[in-house]
Amino acid sequence: ALPDLIAPSILSADFARLGEEVDNVLAAGADVVHFDVMDNHYVPNLTIGPLVCEALRKHGVTATIDVHLMVKPVDRIIPDFAKAGADYITFHPEASEHIDRSLQLVRDQGCKSGLVFNPATPLSYLDYVMDKVDLILLMSVNPGFGGQSFIPATLDKLREARQRIDASGREIRLEVDGGVKVENIAEIKAAGADTFVAGSAIFGAGQDSDPHRYDSVIAAM
Ligand code: DX5
Ligand code: ZN
Repeated sequence: ALPDLIAPSILSADFARLGEEVDNVLAAGADVVHFDVMDNHYVPNLTIGPLVCEALRKHGVTATIDVHLMVKPVDRIIPDFAKAGADYITFHPEASEHIDRSLQLVRDQGCKSGLVFNPATPLSYLDYVMDKVDLILLMSVNPGFGGQSFIPATLDKLREARQRIDASGREIRLEVDGGVKVENIAEIKAAGADTFVAGSAIFGAGQDSDPHRYDSVIAAM
């Protein structure tokens, strides 16, 4: 099995002090920066784009940046994020006209690729592209906002995704996103996930003035 990774979602960070927030979660032991891109079209919210990813790199962030695209169309923004310093680029199959082509585009740009599944999206989208994904991301909330509750049906879906990965014999990460907290992370891990996105549970912790406010929540995950 691949080592577990904690991926704070910067959607819930203080955007006015984003560089410092990212430095603080990484210093607290987080492994990956989860970067939520929303377009007010595929999902009902508007967030951050390649310029902000590039700014984090210029700020000195060397950690893995996991770009979660909630945009439609996907293809024209993929090269921009590759140039901006993304490591993983994942997208929702419903948002791509040609899923195989978009996955190949991510890899051609030198990034690791992944598909993202909404709570009601079937895993059968993986049937013919398993060799083209490095990561599978299961949404445990409907995408668009932080701070929602974990949808329990995700646990069975995680077990199914874990079986697909094990049967493939490939090292594919299994990531979960939405409503992940200290209280439920153990059962999510037991269902087969190895990469854990948490937004509000991490960035909601502690007092604003304390640079170590994220240490204990990340240590507990
Ligand atoms: C939702 C985003 C998530 C979100 C998770 O569309 O993809 O990454 O930030 O936030 P929490 O952990 O608060 O559910
Ligand atoms: Zn996300």
